[in-house]
Amino acid sequence: MDKFVIYKSTLSGVVKISGSKNTTLPIMAATLLTDQECKISNVPDIMDIRTMIKILEVLGKQVIFDGKTLIIKPTKRESVVAPYRLVRTMRASFCCLGPLIAKRKKAKVSLPGGCVIGVRPVDLHIKGLRELGAEIIIEKGYCIAKAKNLHGKHIYLGGAFGSSVLATANVMMAASLAQGQTIIEYAACEPEVEALGKFLKKMGAQIYGEGTPLIKIDGVKKLEGCEFDIIPDRIEAGTFIAASLITRSPLEIKEVQPLHLTSVIEISKKIGADIVIKDKSIFIKPKSSFKPVNIVTLPYPGFPTDLQAQFMAVLSLVKGVSLITEKIYPDRFMHVAELNRMGANIQRSGPYAIVEGVDKLYGAEVMASDLRASAALVIAGLAAENKTEVFRVYHIDRGYECIEEKLRQVGAKIYREKQ
Ligand code: UD1
Repeated sequence: MDKFVIYKSTLSGVVKISGSKNTTLPIMAATLLTDQECKISNVPDIMDIRTMIKILEVLGKQVIFDGKTLIIKPTKRESVVAPYRLVRTMRASFCCLGPLIAKRKKAKVSLPGGCVIGVRPVDLHIKGLRELGAEIIIEKGYCIAKAKNLHGKHIYLGGAFGSSVLATANVMMAASLAQGQTIIEYAACEPEVEALGKFLKKMGAQIYGEGTPLIKIDGVKKLEGCEFDIIPDRIEAGTFIAASLITRSPLEIKEVQPLHLTSVIEISKKIGADIVIKDKSIFIKPKSSFKPVNIVTLPYPGFPTDLQAQFMAVLSLVKGVSLITEKIYPDRFMHVAELNRMGANIQRSGPYAIVEGVDKLYGAEVMASDLRASAALVIAGLAAENKTEVFRVYHIDRGYECIEEKLRQVGAKIYREKQ
């Protein structure tokens, strides 16, 4: 197992953002909807992509990955079983369910279970697919489904916490091959869902309104192979914005889609940064003094829950009191205790975190608990006195491509060592 050793750093220079993990994963699942070859470029070389490759291989696809481009081809040995040993390591694999039901008429996909950021149910996925006509039972931890034919339906997909990204993806993919028209009301509007819609359209699906809360899908009989370029990873870009803020260092963050980061840019300006956008680059220059802010995580276009931990690290060094309200995953606060071990003063109460800014963070041995929490500890380490050691960096390897190389290129003192 690896750990990161990090020292207080000043950054400057240019960071190039990779393709989006959360866009690539459902698009990989969508290739199950066709018997033809798909070519997907600008794919990040990270563990979650490797896991999804294994799942597609188990399901009978041949996958060639050169670290940048995926070529996914059919084979003659098809399976419909996505086993627990793979699904439990990555919840996004549950979005194979919709394509399997629609294309292969049956599926046995392990339920992903909870994770450190909360309970994470899949009721909306199951509701949506049942409404399309799939018969689904839960048995021995698996979701077992069959469907002779799927039929379009008007489906309300809102849940207790609003829209669901992967439930929208699952239903959208299945509805593409259903008979008749499906309307998804309260669809997730995230750029990743919009990109999936564009990918499905390239395959020949008839989809309207992707990226809005109301998506219409006219089912087609067959989908073709296609080529697709993955959009930039807005969460990786937001993480580097947080790194710039916490180290009070200017950065150019390039190869991004700035429109996908409006809420993050607004908050960063409120905290205290000059931000200039030029085409696909964000130039960020932190000011000499920062102000505390209130952050509420919400579905897109609200502030992303996947950047909550990183911005908590930033706010822990901002004089005054900031309030963070987590509206997507009310238990996503595993990083609070670790940041406090570094000298932060954060109190959690239910879905709220009250962050009282301190003058300094101090390096400590800290434990990464999930992907985004580990990113928060890394950037906290860049601003902390002395040495920080972040253990269990396999969490960060799941979702960030070459994070330590990218940070080192802009001057960070971060080193990967054996734990
Ligand atoms: C996706 C992202 C994840 C991000 C999350 C929220 C991927 C691979 N992962 O996860 O990084 O943190 O969106 O932006 O794209 N919910 C239900 N029932 C369901 C499904 C979800 O109640 O059937 C709830 C969840 O518990 C949560 C909220 O809906 O409170 C949003 O979750 P959802 O959008 O589904 O997250 P994911 O798609 O799993």
